[in-house]
Amino acid sequence: MRAIRGATTISKDCAEEIRSSVGELLCEMRDANNLCVGQILCILFSNTSDIVSFYPAKAAREAGFSDCALYSSAEPEILGALPLCIRVMILAEGDGPVRHVYLRGAAGLRKDLRRYAVALDGPSGSGKSTVAKLLSKELGVLYLDTGAMYRACALKALSEHCDFTEQSVEKLCSSLDIKVKYEQGAQHTFLDGEDVSDEIRRNEVSMAASKISAFRCIREKMVEMQRRIAGEQTCILDGRDIGTAVLPNAEFKFYITADAAVRAERRYKELLAKGESVDLEKLREEIEARDKNDSTREFSPLRKADDAVLIDTSGLTIEEVVALIKKKIQEAV
Ligand code: DC
Repeated sequence: MRAIRGATTISKDCAEEIRSSVGELLCEMRDANNLCVGQILCILFSNTSDIVSFYPAKAAREAGFSDCALYSSAEPEILGALPLCIRVMILAEGDGPVRHVYLRGAAGLRKDLRRYAVALDGPSGSGKSTVAKLLSKELGVLYLDTGAMYRACALKALSEHCDFTEQSVEKLCSSLDIKVKYEQGAQHTFLDGEDVSDEIRRNEVSMAASKISAFRCIREKMVEMQRRIAGEQTCILDGRDIGTAVLPNAEFKFYITADAAVRAERRYKELLAKGESVDLEKLREEIEARDKNDSTREFSPLRKADDAVLIDTSGLTIEEVVALIKKKIQEAV
């Protein structure tokens, strides 16, 4: 059994307003929780005492929620309470995650439930994925590493000895099976059912990912998955095209960058720590080549969205960048 809460407001006390607000609220609650009408056992309403013209329960029946028990009651007058407010509780069969829904003026009552998306774009090695991971922990929201998805495509291409021509990438595209799952808050990327989260971090996969991500069929497939995941919950996405193409309406957009030399140095240390021996100068060349690939490709090139906040991390610590972004988000939600 699930108990789902919701609330909404009306702008004036009249039957029409009550009908439309209640209908909208119940439909949103039903859809957000994947309920079918038969699962709803009862709907309980309470409304502030300034609403007297029509029963919310009657509005629910008129909106098609008529096969369950409906009940309305008036709330006591509470000093400072949000006026003209209708609250609801749906008791429904079944289990699974519960999504409470607060609309119109009532959205401000539960700011913690407000859904939003954070787009973090920028070139390779700018620190955006480290920032995104820390930020997701601090804010308690999901992090989707979109680069990992392109990396998984690249791994498939490498293992199939793909020559990166349009024809062979299209063939590859039709058999691509990429999934993203979360275990203890960490993203795991699966290719053909196998967890490839570590393998895709290999240096040779980086360059291949940059190449393969330029193909339209690959981008369309990945973007569709990314939008679906981001549409289901508050989410931080990092990538190259999140603010410009994947989620152009994201509530928060940041473009994170740093000097190529600083980025190469960071990557060098990261690979050394993993026991991979690499040449710093070669790394820098590779980073510059990926920048060029990513920013000059035809489809969704790496570009700062006009409304993204630019953050140059060359002289900043990761903690400073996280604090800066977190402050901007928390000021607004
Ligand atoms: O962020 P990363 O280094 O893991 O990304 C690997 C490659 O994938 C990168 O060179 C460009 C591509 N990519 C992309 O084109 N669009 C994204 N949203 C994310 C990554």
